[in-house]
This record gives sequence, structure tokens and C-alpha cells, in this order.
Amino acid sequence: MTEITALIGGTGIYALAGMELRSETIKTPYGEVTVERTDDLIFLHRHAPRHSVPPHKVNYRANIKALDMLGVKRICATFAVGSINPDFELAVPVILSDFLDYSSGREHSFFDRIDAGKGHVDVSVPFCPVLSDALEAEAAKLNLKVRRGGVYASTNGPRFETPAEIRAYRKFGADVVGMTLCPELPLALELGMSYAGLAFSINWGAGMTPNIELQHAGVDEIKDKMLRTMIGALANTKNADCIPATIL
Ligand code: HPA
Repeated sequence: MTEITALIGGTGIYALAGMELRSETIKTPYGEVTVERTDDLIFLHRHAPRHSVPPHKVNYRANIKALDMLGVKRICATFAVGSINPDFELAVPVILSDFLDYSSGREHSFFDRIDAGKGHVDVSVPFCPVLSDALEAEAAKLNLKVRRGGVYASTNGPRFETPAEIRAYRKFGADVVGMTLCPELPLALELGMSYAGLAFSINWGAGMTPNIELQHAGVDEIKDKMLRTMIGALANTKNADCIPATIL
């Protein structure tokens, strides 16, 4: 059977060039979600079509539940981030490996009741190694420079961080900072999905330059290759043995 996979596009990633897509609206228990799709690839705009929803208002549960209802088991997602590790150059995509969650006030779990004594997802391996390997391999094929491994500090937004917050996140081991990984990733793991993340940096974190300066130009140049990398990685891992997170 053809496996259906999904690509979640964040800021700056709105179109799958050259693909014929049709719209579909899914009614989930958490709200309606509209995706664009082919028969076997779902494209979800995290911030809704036309980027109308800010990071702290995204209906993460509806988004992930919609993918689940469409039969998706594997997701590749993109994130625009700020670099807070000086070694993490702007516009060099990072295949994420771990996260710190500083988000708050968001609906962040499907486990509102503990059924059969289970209600805690194990996030010891947050990002799927099989999908992450495939991203690295596809990027190499396309001659796209990527960095393997990076820790994402997930903040609440919509404000940017203070210099002191950035220094603190750095001390705690974060390499990049963004506003949307959490609760999207843990929700996907709660529903047994595998998830890989590709983050591209468009600025240096607060305090590393006199003001936040967003630089989209470098990313515009690699966007197409990033998309092809993700689509290729999903296609090449169809029915691969990704190990879903354990629910305890
Ligand atoms: N902080 C938080 N989120 C972001 C940033 C940042 O510096 N850049 C892009 N998304």
C-alpha cells in the first residue's frame, strides 16, 4: 500500500513548486485544518494558508490530528530559527537532534485523560534517526550543505528573546531558537508518528548583533533544495522501519 507522508512548512516555506496539489479540509475534534496534497504527500502550512496564525496561536493539536486522520506516520518539518551558537552559520540547514521546551500556555498534549494507565510519551529520541539519515543523504546528493545535529530551544513568542535569555539557552546547550517546534513534535510522537526537523537560521540570537536582523536572502537561494531534500527523504524511506516513541 502507498504510504502517505507529510511535510510541514514553516515560515518562508509555502509552495511545492512544480507539483500538482489539491486542497483538502479535515474536520478534527480540535478544529478544521486545510492541507494541500498529492495522493501520497501532504503539505501542511503550519501557520495556515497565507501565514495568518502566529506561533503562539497555531492550533498544533488540530494540525497533528489532521495528519493522523489522513493516515500519516512520517513527517518532515521545516523551521525558520535564530542561531545562538556562533558555529551555526545562517542559511545552513540543521538536521535537528534534540530540544529544550520553553513554550507555555499552549495545548501541548493529546493525553487529557490517562487511558489504561498510559499518558507519558518517552522523548529520549525526539527526532527519527532513519528520517534524519535520509535527510542527510538527500542533501548530499543535491550538494546542499547541512549540519547534522543541533538543539532547538522552543520559545513562546511572538516576541523575540532578550540577550539574557539567549545566553541562558546557550548555557543549557541550545544551538538555535525558534517558536514552533513545541508542542508540534511531542504531539506527533504522542500519536505514534516519526518526525524529522530541518531548521534554517535567518538571524543571530538577541544580543549577538545590536538588533535582530532578519536575513532571508541566503535562505531564498537554498529553499528549493531544502524542499527537494525533504521530499526525497520521505520518498526514500517509504515503509522504512522507523521506531515510534514509547508511550508509558
Ligand atoms: N528567536 C525566536 N524565533 C525565531 C528567531 C529568533 O531569533 N528567528 C526566527 N525565528
